[in-house]
Order: sequence, then structure tokens, then C-alpha cells
Amino acid sequence: MPFQRSFSDLIFKRYSCRHYDPGQTSAEAFTRLDNYIHTLPPGPFNVPGRFRLVLAGGVDRHGLRGLGTYGAIKDSPGFIIGVTSSSNKDLEDFGYRMELVVLKATDLDMGTCWLGGSFTRSTFSKKADLTKDESLPAVCSVGFPAAMKTTDEIERARKRLGWETLFFMNDFASTLSSEEAGVFADPLELVRLAPSARNCQPWRILKAGDVWHFYLQRTKPYHEFVVPLITGIADLQRVDMGIAMSHFEMSARSTGLSGAWVVNDPGISLANALMEYCVSWVPG
Ligand SMILES: Cc1cc2nc3c(=O)[nH]c(=O)nc-3n(C[C@H](O)[C@H](O)[C@H](O)COP(=O)(O)O)c2cc1C
Repeated sequence: MPFQRSFSDLIFKRYSCRHYDPGQTSAEAFTRLDNYIHTLPPGPFNVPGRFRLVLAGGVDRHGLRGLGTYGAIKDSPGFIIGVTSSSNKDLEDFGYRMELVVLKATDLDMGTCWLGGSFTRSTFSKKADLTKDESLPAVCSVGFPAAMKTTDEIERARKRLGWETLFFMNDFASTLSSEEAGVFADPLELVRLAPSARNCQPWRILKAGDVWHFYLQRTKPYHEFVVPLITGIADLQRVDMGIAMSHFEMSARSTGLSGAWVVNDPGISLANALMEYCVSWVPG
């Protein structure tokens, strides 16, 4: 794993950074991030995708002029632009891979912020030379924070759902405790801390036997496919699911727990009409 820090340290350290220090542009850190992007491993569903780091100076001199973020981000010296081919599970694969880039930036003491809504899609698409068979679901701002938050500040600001809402055993009426999760307690906790669009945390994980089944619990407005069609915004909750998968898998592997992703719906009764099966992690 090409990270200096442990995976859990990186997940605890990451937060959405929306204000950057324009004076701090360590060329070495950006070069190392760019090198990582060029060796980014494939995602769990092997969907072709491209990631590119664009900078205000250096690698891309004309940089960010004209790339809009609707005021959500201040003084970002760079952006990671990600593009995916259209395919089954494309958005999950995209979320998984982009999150690895985000964690690499965290490892380099940089700040990041996922942007799925607050960016001008047309100008970023042009920058990425988007073809008609590709889409650009999200970008991430990247740079050095204007003021790096302490772990305490990050912890205090972080709002997440509890285990009793997110994790289940055998059916959706029975919650899973961290004791029952055993060696998978850490991977689950690191899923819980993952970033998500509008902080909706749409993942639910159910343990049946040895297998961990991942479900998408859609938030109401996101269910309306009309919204993405009108706004051009991607189905970001599927991107969130990919991010959750990366946290779970990387955390499991870092503690020696091997396994593989399989799409095989176990047919367990869903908790409600806004829930859908996505994928399962089969240990071994
Ligand atoms: C797929 C995705 C899209 C996001 N889009 C935006 C966005 O458009 N604008 C924004 O300010 N934050 C955006 N965020 C950041 C979330 O609001 C943030 O991750 C969440 O509130 C949790 O906070 P944290 O990242 O500080 O832990 C997005 C996050 C994800 C994962």
C-alpha cells in the first residue's frame, strides 16, 4: 500500500477542507500525488476511468481560471478531475478509486473536498476532454489547508449515524454490535466515518454467515432520477457506496483480512422501498 500512514489514521485525519492557503503550493507533494494518480489500481468492478490533477501553476499553467465551484471552495490551488466510462457499477467504481486519491492527498498532509454538485460541470468536462461515452460524476479540490484542523476539532465537527442505524445481522430488524462484528469492527467503523454527498451516509451493511452484504439506503430526493436528468448531477449516492467499499476493503486488507467483492443478492427482505442491494464482501 503506497501510504506512509495507516489507513485508519488517514480516515480519522480526512475532513472536507473548503479553504486553502494559496501561498503553500509544495511542488513535491503535488508531484507525488500526480505520480500516485498515474499508478492508481483498478476499482472492484474494473470500469475504465481517468483521473487528472490540474493545478493553477506548474503542471497546468492556465490552470483553474474559469473552473467554477459556486463559492463553495476558497483558494484551491488544484483539483482532481475524475472521469468514468458508462458501465454497470461505474459510479461505485469511480467513488472507490477517487477516494484512494483523496486518502493519498491526506497522507501528503493536503486537504481535499469532494464536489459532486458545487462545480461547473461544463468547464471541468472541457478540461478533462470528456468524450460522449464518458461522464464526470465529481471532482475534488486539493491543496494545503488555510488552517489545518486538529484531530479534536475534526472529531467534534464530525456528524455520523450510529452503528444501530447502519449495521445489521441476518435481517434488518436485528442490529449488529461491535462485539458481534469481531475483527470486522474496525472496517465497519471506518465505513461509518466515510464522507458522503450531503452527509447522507446511504450505506447499510448486513452480516449473514461470514458474508457482508452492502445495501444502498437512498435518501428521498436522490430517489427521483428526474433530479440527475434535469441538473446533470450524477447519482452521488452510488459514488458514496464506492467510497464506503474502499474504506471497508482497505481497512480489512490492512489488518490481514482478505476477501473479494461479489454481486450476488442474497434475497434478504429489504427494510423499506428506498433500499436496494449493491454488493457483498466474501472473506477468504
Ligand atoms: C460524492 C460526494 C459529493 C459531495 N459534494 C459536495 C459538494 O458539491 N459541495 C460541498 O461543499 N461538499 C460536498 N461533499 C462533501 C460532504 O458534504 C462531506 O463529505 C460531508 O458533509 C461529511 O463531512 P466531512 O467530509 O468533513 O467528513 C461531497 C461529498 C461526497 C462524498
